[in-house]
Amino acid sequence: MKTPKRIPLLALLFLLSIFKISAQTYAKNGMVVSSNLESSKVGRTILQQGGNAIDAAVATAFSLAVTLPSAGNIGGGGFIVFMDSIGKTTTIDFREKAPLAATNDMYLNKDGELVKGSNHTSIKAIGVPGTVAGLYMAHKKYGKLPWKDLVQPAIDQAKNGFIFNWSLYRAAQRFTKEGNDNAFMDAYFRKENGAVLEPGDNWKQPQLAATLTAIRDKGKDGFYKGEVAKKIALWMKENGGIITKKDLKKYEAIERKPIEGTYKGYTIYSMPPPSSGGVALVEMMNLMEQADLKDIEFNSTAYVHLVAEAMRRAFADRAEHLGDADFNLDMPLEKLTSKEFAKQRFKGIDMKKASVSDSTKFGQLYDGQNTTHFSVLDKDGNAVSLTYTLEYSYGSRMGSEELGFIFNNEMGDFNPQPGITKGNGQIGTAPNLVAPEKRMLSSMSPTIVAKDGKPYLVIGSPGGRTIINTVFQTVLGVLEYEMRIDKAIEALKIHHQWLPDIIRYEKHLLSPDTRDALESMGHTLKPTNNLGSLMGITWDAENKVMTGASDSSSPDGGAAGY
Ligand code: DON
Repeated sequence: MKTPKRIPLLALLFLLSIFKISAQTYAKNGMVVSSNLESSKVGRTILQQGGNAIDAAVATAFSLAVTLPSAGNIGGGGFIVFMDSIGKTTTIDFREKAPLAATNDMYLNKDGELVKGSNHTSIKAIGVPGTVAGLYMAHKKYGKLPWKDLVQPAIDQAKNGFIFNWSLYRAAQRFTKEGNDNAFMDAYFRKENGAVLEPGDNWKQPQLAATLTAIRDKGKDGFYKGEVAKKIALWMKENGGIITKKDLKKYEAIERKPIEGTYKGYTIYSMPPPSSGGVALVEMMNLMEQADLKDIEFNSTAYVHLVAEAMRRAFADRAEHLGDADFNLDMPLEKLTSKEFAKQRFKGIDMKKASVSDSTKFGQLYDGQNTTHFSVLDKDGNAVSLTYTLEYSYGSRMGSEELGFIFNNEMGDFNPQPGITKGNGQIGTAPNLVAPEKRMLSSMSPTIVAKDGKPYLVIGSPGGRTIINTVFQTVLGVLEYEMRIDKAIEALKIHHQWLPDIIRYEKHLLSPDTRDALESMGHTLKPTNNLGSLMGITWDAENKVMTGASDSSSPDGGAAGY
């Protein structure tokens, strides 16, 4: 028989189990949702200490460089979309750049053929990192607390260690298994005595702590000038890389005007080129606005068909027009994001039949699965939507042991072979060819949706080109289908990127009947395990309720609010 004392305990355990399975968390004063709960907590502490959303974002980003080295980084790049408490919105572009010595044929052999993997796996796949410059600019312009206080928590985590988790252990097994010839990654996951790290171990990263200390003490210059820059340039030279001290010294983050759109009374702010995310998102939302969605149920055949057709069109336009804004001065951004353009484009959608993507013109490849997004909201209503990446999981898988961080392989996002566009998905269109100091086209789509001038939804995801589509479907779920954020994040996602002409769908989430119906309309379907890993917050400003949700596909992720 249960004693009266045991009942409350059981009730407590039951409640805890509910909290654990529930992906949503509520808060009143501030919230950070990231792919690593420990890093979300670092951001929350900064908010509790009086920092604003930018301060918390800077601290969270540095912390993720320690706790989530597959994607959190100081050796990569990314984007911030920021809305302040009076509704002013801006973006910070800290995308990597091609080094000065880069050329548009750098990945070709003497016969003009693409050398397989050279743009993704060689040392020349590394772009000039932008993360430290971006975080520094964000803090200088919009932060409140001292810079040092924002870098220190990451130094503490790197120096004193944190619990090595299962995700890291899975990576450790991969990179240390017999036959692996990557000495840097092998050493990365070993303890001082040479044993491979195990779940539950305390993982210390003293070299990374030292690099972060230089950044804490000297700000941006601690990375782009002085000892760290010297070591990067030397390591590059010794290993056949082309990034020099001059490349590092010249790197600047850029503040850019966001891409803006509307959807039924909401305002959407997202990232402009060099990301394609904002343009494609707004184009797709505009296309959806043309349809009478009251009669189209979520997850129905008509829904999947329409969503896929919107994606097909936005991705075709992406391939044709988008690249780095500083190198493509005549991109038709206003046209692509206009209601009139969507009206015309919508006329081409046949609700009974799939369109056909023309593979003789362009195509797109799928990306790998690692990048990370986090969302922050503070008590005054400042919101930060930040996505950054190393491109592949653990990026180039290269770095200097002395510096303790991993470099990106972002050069792989450029079109590698001028003029050559193939049915297999390789693209050669002009806007995104390699050029010295150019930023490669991205799909990262950090987004803030506003209602009455205040942040309503802060959202983003990793996933290469699938990012645009998973963000699109989550925004649509919340705005149009009135889903709670955790439901919208977990709900069915599909992906179509024009070419290949395939709808990928999360298996088990599309019924056999719907699949049959879509196939008979001419769609080709392919199941996939998971699309996206969305980290989002919605804000009911009137009632002061923040709801945070982290995608269950990121097992170490979580919302930290107060
Ligand atoms: O910038 C981009 O669009 C890609 N480099 C992002 C890569 C990515 O998201 C991989 N996986 N999750």
